[in-house]
Amino acid sequence: MQKPDNISKAKAPGREGKVPEMARQLRVPSLDPHFFILEEDRKNLERFAQMSGRHPVNILITGNQGCGKSTLVRQFACIHNRPMATFQVGLLLESGQLFGQQRLKEGETYYHEFLFPRAIQTPGCVVHLEEINRSESPHALNELFSVLSEDRSIWVDELGFVEVAPGVIFFATMNEGEQFTGTDALDAALKDRFYRIHLEYLPQAVEREVLERKTGLDTNTANQVLTLVNKIRENRELAISVSIRHSLMIAELVSHGASLREALVYSLQISRDTLESLLLSIHVATAQTETDRGAYSLYVP
Ligand SMILES: Nc1ncnc2c1ncn2[C@@H]1O[C@H](COP(=O)(O)OP(=O)(O)OP(=O)(O)O)[C@@H](O)[C@H]1O
Ligand SMILES: [Mg+2]
Repeated sequence: MQKPDNISKAKAPGREGKVPEMARQLRVPSLDPHFFILEEDRKNLERFAQMSGRHPVNILITGNQGCGKSTLVRQFACIHNRPMATFQVGLLLESGQLFGQQRLKEGETYYHEFLFPRAIQTPGCVVHLEEINRSESPHALNELFSVLSEDRSIWVDELGFVEVAPGVIFFATMNEGEQFTGTDALDAALKDRFYRIHLEYLPQAVEREVLERKTGLDTNTANQVLTLVNKIRENRELAISVSIRHSLMIAELVSHGASLREALVYSLQISRDTLESLLLSIHVATAQTETDRGAYSLYVP
């Protein structure tokens, strides 16, 4: 198995003078000791890590809002001791914006290089592209094609050839609702360059453990929270999506002494009437309706 233990200390070639600044920004993220993923996803992430030692690997993580996409990328970087940098692709307006910009200092213009070129030139770096499908302008994605494709290099007038360093892994994340349509050539070309991991909401037993571990709730109370949360999730008329982030928010309020009712009112956009009928129905036994996707295990080193 690949052991890029030195990668976090690696320097981008030819940019030694800027390393202290880079080192501050390109950090190995810290571990979330309570993060669970599907066993199958964990195994395949190991494979991707191994493969990245031999050739470039791009991974697209899809899933609903707040289902753990960003945390998974950080967790991967931490477990493999790789530096990581995140870029909000959704905010890009035009091409060139990732690499740097002309600035003015004492009447002179100079080119200020951004973190992106440094990150992709750092061996083993995990480069996280957030909301890759949300870019304001398709032109802004043009430069990404070059670095994500086989040749892995791009010409930038101000920087020359920028080559992706060995072992760099690109993770792109996007919310499920806004999938690549496949009708747009640009979208299809991007999609074509990625392996894909799709994250689902956790089964109740696993999510309960997450709530217990992260908020200190006891098993019974965590179950109460989740029974209610799952009722809201299942109710299509309500059209409220309750993410894991949200169930954690609710559980945390409860663990700080709030009643279930309060926690819901303060965490969700839900009318009083709806809430009352939901609270009534919590006493009715619910059938588990989860489809079994296999075993979940802790994703820690
Ligand atoms: N599988 C999981 N195990 C433990 N905690 C989780 C899990 N999935 C999500 N969480 C927690 O839920 C919260 C939201 O996760 P995260 O920010 O990674 O979601 P996301 O999918 O990136 O959200 P968004 O769509 O808003 O970008 C975090 O606090 C995270 O730790
Ligand atoms: Mg995210």
